[in-house]
Amino acid sequence: MSSSGSRASLTKDFERFKRELPRDFPAHVRETYRIDLSARYLDQPLPHPIGKGSGQLSLNAGQLETDAEAGLALAVLKTVIAQDAAGAQSMAAWAIHETKMKVERRGGGWTVTWKGRGWDRSFDDYLALVRAGRDLTRAGRLLVVPSVKYHLPRLDEPFRDAEYAFTTRALAEAWGEAPLLVEKDFSPTLAGDHLSDERAQILRWLREVPERIRGHAPVRIAMKVMNARFDDDFQCQMLEAASSADALVVFNRLFDPTAGIAYGGPELSDRNLRVLDWPSGRPTVRPSRCGTGNIHSGRMIAEYAARGCSSVQLHTFFQLPLEEYPATGGSRTQRALHVLLFDPRDGLIAVMLEREARGQLERRGGELCFLDLLPSPDANHPR
Ligand SMILES: Cc1cc2nc3c(=O)[nH]c(=O)nc-3n(C[C@H](O)[C@H](O)[C@H](O)COP(=O)(O)O)c2cc1C
Repeated sequence: MSSSGSRASLTKDFERFKRELPRDFPAHVRETYRIDLSARYLDQPLPHPIGKGSGQLSLNAGQLETDAEAGLALAVLKTVIAQDAAGAQSMAAWAIHETKMKVERRGGGWTVTWKGRGWDRSFDDYLALVRAGRDLTRAGRLLVVPSVKYHLPRLDEPFRDAEYAFTTRALAEAWGEAPLLVEKDFSPTLAGDHLSDERAQILRWLREVPERIRGHAPVRIAMKVMNARFDDDFQCQMLEAASSADALVVFNRLFDPTAGIAYGGPELSDRNLRVLDWPSGRPTVRPSRCGTGNIHSGRMIAEYAARGCSSVQLHTFFQLPLEEYPATGGSRTQRALHVLLFDPRDGLIAVMLEREARGQLERRGGELCFLDLLPSPDANHPR
């Protein structure tokens, strides 16, 4: 199809999918635009790059079912706090119950204010959710991944292996088939707690945590790296320290010490993209990357992809007031996917066609490929 033909189809699809997004939109996109949206997370193939980050939107099987139905590619479960066989949790302070969430404008974008932290129900309940996620994953409907906050010691303390052992083995058993994919969440600890004032301590965690987890089951580990309260240079040191992980999720929210809250919005994506642009932050083949932070358009997905992210995880954009989405029907997940992909100006399809028109993205075997937005590993600079 000519490029003006593609643009006309895009306008038409954007309008007609406002009522309902087809479940198999990746196949439709491939057929209509010759665009292959295939993406990757932790070496797993995804039909497209858009996933949901860990949080309040992946707390129960009903939410997962809705997301599978909408055609989301990945859902990371709410973070559970690790425990030992007796149920002791050294990070128990993070298992806080809090119901109120406020979606607000911040810096010209959106942020969600919420003071709770990890999973606040029983570990058995979490395992039941993991099994529901496993079933959806096996059925090929949605890749579901648990997220854990494990013990993080002071510099002069050992890791509490009993918590690493019990939690990792229980999750691996609930999952069944090896390997278990798991995200390690560093966020609240690095943000608000006094433990996060010590740089050497943070770097030790990032260096040592993967092997602590690996000691107890066959796992593939994505480490979700927090925005620490230090400069960009330290943020790059964190990336390097975490290089033994299988994947890095870059980077969780910023922290406002005055208000005592984590926040997102444009400041978050500005910082994340800036750090990923740093010479020492340049993409290498390993660990692979998954982007997170203020992703609200296909154009922003392409920005993260240009910095090595083979998939993305959104939270805030799946929580906007309904009238903020151009779609008029379907679940919030469907409405978000609709605009992220099909918006004729800033949707992912439009951006890929624009890159092609500018000679920045070439067809392979007649197709434009999402993964070709990533810099090639041996290039000196991002494409
Ligand atoms: C209300 C809320 C709860 C969250 N809970 C978690 C969590 O438990 N574990 C985690 O790793 N990230 C958590 N996050 C971070 C999100 O997964 C996401 O990475 C981050 O908000 C940046 O993406 P966004 O700008 O699209 O929201 C939470 C975010 C929000 C807004």
